Amino acid sequence: MDTLEQQLITKARLVSKHAYAPYSGYHVGAAIVTRKGHVYSGTNVENSSYGATICAERGAIMNAVASEGPDMRIEAIAVVTASSPPAGPCGECLQVLVEFAPDEAQIILANGKGEVTTYTLKELLPKAFRQDTLHNRHH
Ligand code: THU
Repeated sequence: MDTLEQQLITKARLVSKHAYAPYSGYHVGAAIVTRKGHVYSGTNVENSSYGATICAERGAIMNAVASEGPDMRIEAIAVVTASSPPAGPCGECLQVLVEFAPDEAQIILANGKGEVTTYTLKELLPKAFRQDTLHNRHH
């Protein structure tokens, strides 16, 4: 039996083949497992305006919210690219992950060469701006 980590990597690799990346040629796949144990995936979808491009990670998060609703929580996400060392989520995707994932959520980065590196969300975005940040202020 594959480990959950391996299952997520396999799913992310599969979905990366669906990338719409005619501008960069850079294919990204992401697969999330939620607290409820369901897996959702996403791939990058580019745009001729460039700025309207949506990353694989955010695509996966949108799918997860659409299926489970606003209480969806992320336990782990695998991201597969062709980069070595394996590439991590961009800053914008980290910020969106923070909205739905705890500090300890596992960010599993992999590539086609079999390299895998795992971080916690807190390691990649240690001083995250959170919902709490909005509430914990002086009046
Ligand atoms: N990309 C992602 O899908 N995820 C990331 O975390 C980094 C970048 C995509 C966006 C664009 O389509 C291509 O990779 C090159 O930046």
